Amino acid sequence: MPYLFLCDSHTLTEGHYHEFRIPLSDLPADWADLRPVDLIVTRHQGKPKAWFNVCPHQGRPLNIAPNRFLTDENNQLVCCVHGAVFEPNQGQCVSGPCLNAHLKAVKIREDNGQVSVQLS
Ligand code: FES
Repeated sequence: MPYLFLCDSHTLTEGHYHEFRIPLSDLPADWADLRPVDLIVTRHQGKPKAWFNVCPHQGRPLNIAPNRFLTDENNQLVCCVHGAVFEPNQGQCVSGPCLNAHLKAVKIREDNGQVSVQLS
């Protein structure tokens, strides 16, 4: 499966949530859902993590503005719509209207100073 380059490793900082939009032109030809793909990407305990930017509660994006996410006092991700809180290891909801649901994870890898995702 092809991986798509996202960013250089040094730009993915510990505990900071980044938004990435994968344009249609970069998606695999057989990607069934033909629309841009928005991702949430972070680094947690040294490892890159990625999820689709789709809240399991009502399917809305979690961010409050482009590349701007809310967090709680423990730096957990907070959905800006109804306040669901997600822990940064598995993307599991630990508080709010979709308790125990998970953000949908995206396969991510880091080699040679580059971070890439697999979308299929
Ligand atoms: S859409 Fe995220 S908490 Fe409702």
